Amino acid sequence: MYSVEQTQKLQNLTASLQKKSNKNPLTANDLEHLRAVLRFHEYRYYVMNEPLVADFEYDSLYKQLEKIEAANPELITHDSPTQRVAKDLTKEFPTVQHLVPMLSLENSYNADDLIDWDRKAKEISGIENIEYCVEPKFDGASISLIYDNDQLTRAATRGNGIEGDEITTNIRQIRSVPLSAAFSSYGIQQIEIRGEVLMNKNSFKKYNDLLTEQNLPPLANPRNAASGSLRIKDPKEVGRRNLEAFLYHVSYYTTLNSKQSTVNSLLTHSGSLEMLWNLGFRSPQKEKKIFKGINAVIDYCHEFEKHRDELPYEIDGMVIKVNEIALQEKMGMTTHHPRWAIAFKFKARQATSKLRKVEFQVGRTGSVTPVAKIDPVPIGGITVTSISLFNQDVVREKDLKIGDTVLVERAGDVIPYIVKPLTELRNGKEQEIIFPRKCPVCGDPLVKPEEEAVLRCVNINCKAQVVERIIHFASKDAMDIRSFGEANVRKFFELEFLKNIPGIYDLPFEKIKKLEGFGEKSVTNLQTAIEASKQQPLHRLIFALGIRYVGETTAKALASAVTYLPDFENFSLADLLALEDVGPKVGGSIFEFFHNRDNMQMLHKLEALELNLSNKKSERNAEGNLNGQTFLFTGTLPTLKRSEAEEMAEKNGGKLLNSVSSKLNYLVVGEDAGSKLEKARKIPSIKIISEKEFLELMS
Ligand code: IVH
Repeated sequence: MYSVEQTQKLQNLTASLQKKSNKNPLTANDLEHLRAVLRFHEYRYYVMNEPLVADFEYDSLYKQLEKIEAANPELITHDSPTQRVAKDLTKEFPTVQHLVPMLSLENSYNADDLIDWDRKAKEISGIENIEYCVEPKFDGASISLIYDNDQLTRAATRGNGIEGDEITTNIRQIRSVPLSAAFSSYGIQQIEIRGEVLMNKNSFKKYNDLLTEQNLPPLANPRNAASGSLRIKDPKEVGRRNLEAFLYHVSYYTTLNSKQSTVNSLLTHSGSLEMLWNLGFRSPQKEKKIFKGINAVIDYCHEFEKHRDELPYEIDGMVIKVNEIALQEKMGMTTHHPRWAIAFKFKARQATSKLRKVEFQVGRTGSVTPVAKIDPVPIGGITVTSISLFNQDVVREKDLKIGDTVLVERAGDVIPYIVKPLTELRNGKEQEIIFPRKCPVCGDPLVKPEEEAVLRCVNINCKAQVVERIIHFASKDAMDIRSFGEANVRKFFELEFLKNIPGIYDLPFEKIKKLEGFGEKSVTNLQTAIEASKQQPLHRLIFALGIRYVGETTAKALASAVTYLPDFENFSLADLLALEDVGPKVGGSIFEFFHNRDNMQMLHKLEALELNLSNKKSERNAEGNLNGQTFLFTGTLPTLKRSEAEEMAEKNGGKLLNSVSSKLNYLVVGEDAGSKLEKARKIPSIKIISEKEFLELMS
């Protein structure tokens, strides 16, 4: 898309805008440059995955564009980088007709299927040696985009293949979809292209963590997350979900010059992928490969399948397409699918099993979750026996019964879930799933708050909750007490060596030493780890307390708002709401926590046990030897975990960046450092140092 010279030019332009804006605010005269620079950095970040500036540098230029446009609304163009953001949609999504029906693909599951398909393709086409283009089959939600005179004018879901929902406003939130693209430079006036919207594995995990934090059931898989996100009525929320789009097919186009009906680049499928890539779209340009002969195609499919889990997003197979468009047209289509393409589906991550019983687990916040126990079944490399059913609504919606044969799916690193019961296999002996009225652990009556889907045990002294709170307190992202994992916490709790959180700091080590499996050394390790946790920074302690709705981000915001944790007792609800990241629900929960006598007593007890409850300086503005210097870590460090090293840098006054740019002072490299190191080598001002040198900087 951008040549080396253009890249250089835009980098220089970025630097000069930054320099200029350090002196005076940018003005309307800078608009064009500012937009060009922002588009370029969006492309580097969202399409190429190789940003050239730090996030805050991008943000600062973006904010200036917003300012200039606010002062000069008449200068706003529809494809300005600011114009992705939109107001809420109030109406339903209008139905629109696709220019060309969106067919689906025929499926194949093994080499024989492909050999068969190749034979038929040769028969229909009359060609012995067909050229095939092979690319990944993205597992997301399919979309169609229309560009008229280089502008994105319409985006739609697949719908029933003939008609779909018009979702242009939502698609504009996806930063890898260009709002304008120079199709005219290829002689194209109007074009319809197809692709797939995805949520990558990382964003999916983060999104599900957020849902879990808010006590909402997590989404089953990234595919559902992507298609669900496209139908949200709040485009800003769509923007927050970090969706991505791959474009892989040109279904229709018209030319600018009536004398010329075809565009050379579009004579082959691979040519169209290349054109899309050159115009700034994410197309499978690097992933695609061209082969003559089906055997090489089969090998590539198998090879790709082996590496499927290494990709940042989910794919469920490969798509094999006849490369020459004229030949595609000759081969035509059935009513369901084109004859010139076929999907090669990877091994299923689905299996069937029997639902034997449902158990009810009480979580840290008292939520009672139904868990299905199924006959053990291997899926994608692990054996699945237990599956969360989240809540009553999910059970009801899926119409699950004990004794059902169920279809189970597990995508990538995603937790397994029940897709549906196979109702046609029922024999009438299946039984309803009965939800308990009393807590299965403490026997107190359960409640179901109106706004929630879960049943809840509200007895905060319920043993199940207490033990879950201790497990959370000691866990890796909280106080990180190594060798004090779930199994040990449960064991000590059962033996009554431990009754509550402060009890962690008062364990009877003499008794523990006598337990089977606890040698002198493991007890010393445990003692040291517990002792070390007393010095954890305040934000970790806040997160560890397990205050409802307070995740790691909110915990950090809270930590920097006080110098002494119990001070929150004096915060009004309004004070809390004024903090970053704190809305009414979160604020209410924090307020309740610090106005509960038992909780305050626990905090004072922890303080008496020498835990760190204070925050000498605001954590964000820590000062130290690294004051103001910027750091980025890459590769595996020899002794420190990445998170430890980052925490150390911040504690000593350093600032973390998340990409290599001229703003970076130090790149700390470990083993197997990759592209960041290469990039940093090209910027002479960046000091490339080892972990040892990093530690020396602080001493
Ligand atoms: S080509 C007329 N290429 O798979 C042919 N489809 O099961 C249009 N898909 O509806 C489809 N990756 O949503 C094509 N590289 C790819 C694909 C792909 C994913 C989806 C698409 C299609 C479905 C068929």
